[in-house]
Amino acid sequence: MKVDGKHYYTIWKHPEDISKIQIIDQRHLPHRFVIEDITTVDQMVAAIRDMHLRGAIIIGAAAGYGVYLAAREAAETGNFDQAFKDRCDALKAARPTAVNLEWGVNRTAAVVNAAIDINEKIHAALQEADDIALEEIDRSQRIGAHGLSIIKKLSQAKGGEPVNILTHCNAGWLACIDHGTATAPIYAAYDAGIDVHVWVDETRPRNQGARLTAWELGQHGVKHTVIVDNTGGHLMQNGMVDLVIVGTDRTTSNGDVVNKIGTYLKALAAHDNGVPFYVALPSSSIDWELQSGSDVPIELRGEEEVTSIWGESDGELLCVRLTPKNSPAANYAFDVTPAHLVTGLITELGVSSASAEGLREHFNNAR
Ligand code: MRU
Repeated sequence: MKVDGKHYYTIWKHPEDISKIQIIDQRHLPHRFVIEDITTVDQMVAAIRDMHLRGAIIIGAAAGYGVYLAAREAAETGNFDQAFKDRCDALKAARPTAVNLEWGVNRTAAVVNAAIDINEKIHAALQEADDIALEEIDRSQRIGAHGLSIIKKLSQAKGGEPVNILTHCNAGWLACIDHGTATAPIYAAYDAGIDVHVWVDETRPRNQGARLTAWELGQHGVKHTVIVDNTGGHLMQNGMVDLVIVGTDRTTSNGDVVNKIGTYLKALAAHDNGVPFYVALPSSSIDWELQSGSDVPIELRGEEEVTSIWGESDGELLCVRLTPKNSPAANYAFDVTPAHLVTGLITELGVSSASAEGLREHFNNAR
């Protein structure tokens, strides 16, 4: 996607210095556009844990590049295998919910373990990480094309009037490498000349919607309005939402969708009001091992994300307290939307029903 007219991915290897991976540091957006250099596994773990980068798809790619850094570091020790394993374990433990993290580490570690020579291991890791990133871009683009058909039909049914789409959190290009998952159909529709307008849930406590989705939609020129998280139900009751599209951090083999906290409430409101509720995801976000969303570890983050809020004033980033000093807070970062509330799963292969049979058929038919 373009930032002030220049094309960026969200993670890439430094073009001249092979020891550096570069990322857009999302903590500073929308106020500052900051690129961070990452040269060690510890830095990559911190970037994932402390959300310099966030969103399941980029987390999977960061895992791949993290394994590359792990191979480089292990090569400097006397015991490659042990040092490499320890670093891969540290990467996997950085955040619990997005399945892409473990998937990216395992996939890249497998090619390292299969290579014999140390230089070959390092080279293979970098190649695999690059492949993950490129494949995810392709998957996002395909998700965009499949989701476009849904938006096109709604636009035709409305005689070209704006299609109002509600999204939660940021499943945009910042959460991916390019295009996004939930936003990919929106960008595809906008680029095809369809009139779209996006309701952007602010997404407390970290405000990924207000800070990130609003920023990237604005960079692309897509009409949007930021709303507080409690507004969606009211809009749906009043016919102001034609479609909900969200992303997912992990979808289990029965079609249950684990996504940013608050997604479930949007799905309930959509169900009650007959609004189609779609989830956009690449196959890398499907956990075939787990039978149901209730098996997924839900990340519990620090209280300070709830008790305070970040903003900008006169060019300075400030953090201010919101709650009484002694009130405890709970910060569950994700929730589970049961499959029966999901109209369809938009994947790189098309639209699948959110069910065990639907998903199995969807992926088997394509093989
Ligand atoms: O905690 P985050 O910001 O990493 O959570 C990410 C999300 O939940 C996204 O909204 C998204 O739906 C999944 S990533 C494509």
